Amino acid sequence: MDPFVLLKKDMKEKQEQVNIILDRYLPRKDEYPKEIHKALRYSTFAGGKRLRPYLTMLAYQLYKDNLDPITPVAAAIEMVHTFSLIHDDLPDIDDDEYRRGKKSCHAVFGDGVALLAADSLLINAFEIITYAEIDDALKVQFVRELAQESGIKGLIAGQMLDIESEGKKVDKKTLNFIHNNKTAGMINIALRFGALGAKAPAKELSVIEEYGSKIGLVFQIVDDLLDIEGSSAKLGKTTGKDEAQGKATFPAVYGVEESRKMAHDLTEQAKTAISTLGDRSLKLRILADHLLSRKS
Ligand code: IPE
Ligand code: IPE
Ligand code: MG
Ligand code: MG
Ligand code: MG
Repeated sequence: MDPFVLLKKDMKEKQEQVNIILDRYLPRKDEYPKEIHKALRYSTFAGGKRLRPYLTMLAYQLYKDNLDPITPVAAAIEMVHTFSLIHDDLPDIDDDEYRRGKKSCHAVFGDGVALLAADSLLINAFEIITYAEIDDALKVQFVRELAQESGIKGLIAGQMLDIESEGKKVDKKTLNFIHNNKTAGMINIALRFGALGAKAPAKELSVIEEYGSKIGLVFQIVDDLLDIEGSSAKLGKTTGKDEAQGKATFPAVYGVEESRKMAHDLTEQAKTAISTLGDRSLKLRILADHLLSRKS
C-alpha cells in the first residue's frame, strides 16, 4: 500500500481520538453564555489537520500503545494552536476572512467574541493537562513548558516579530527567529510531550527533538510556499496574502526555489536523525515526506 495512504488512515484515527476528548471537555454550544461556546466550538471543529496532537501521539507510540494517558495533553496543544489561529486572523494581525475552509472566527462572531473564545482556548488548555492520567511532576513540567512555548519566549514572540516585520526587509536571523518561534517550537514541543509522557530515554528524546525542530521549520516554509503556489480551496484559507502584506517569509527572503531546496534538505536531515530509532520511526519518516509535499 502507498505509505501516504497508510499514514492518512492513522492520522484520521488519531484525529478522531483527539476530537472525542475536545468534544467531551469543551462546553456544549447551547451552554450559557451561548455565543462564546458556539465560537470556540466553531473554530475548534472547523476541520484542522490536527498535526500537533498527531505528533504527540506518534512520539508516545514509539514507546507505548495505549494513548489514553497522553490524549488530553495532545488536545491541550491543539487548543493552544487553535487560539493562535483565531488571533492570527484578527483584523489587527493578518486580517484573514477564511480559516479551515470556513469564515474565520471574527468574521462570523465579531472581534470581541473571537478574542474571548481564543483566550478561553488558551487558558483552558492548561486545565485539560491537569486531567491527564500521568504523574503530577510531569503535569507540572508540561504546564510550565507549554506556557514557555506559547508565551513571550515562544509563539507570542514569533507573532510579535511577524507583525513588526510587515513591509520591512528582514535579515535571515530575524526570519529564522520568527519561524522557529511562531511555528516550529509548538510542533517540536508536541513531539517532546509525547516522548516525555512515555518516558523516552534522554538520548532518544534529543533525536526526536532534532527531528521536531527541523520538520517544524519545514512546516512554516511550506506554509509560506503554499501561500504563493497553493490552492485556496485545498488549504481552506486565502492565498497570496503574504506578498500583499509584505510578510517576512522564506520565499520573500530566499526566493521560491531556494526555499523549496531548504525545506527538502531539512526534511532529509530530519529523516536521517529519526531513522536512528529504527523501524519504530517509520511513520515519522513518512510524515516528514508528507509535510514537505502537502497541498493542504
Ligand atoms: C497553520 O497551521 C498555521 C501555521 C503554523 C502555518 P496548520 O496548517 O496546522 O492549520 P490547521 O490546524 O490544519 O488548520
Ligand atoms: C501563523 O503563520 C502561525 C501561527 C498562527 C502561530 P501564518 O500567519 O503564515 O499562518 P496562516 O498562513 O495564516 O495559517
Ligand atoms: Mg500570521
Ligand atoms: Mg496568518
Ligand atoms: Mg501562512
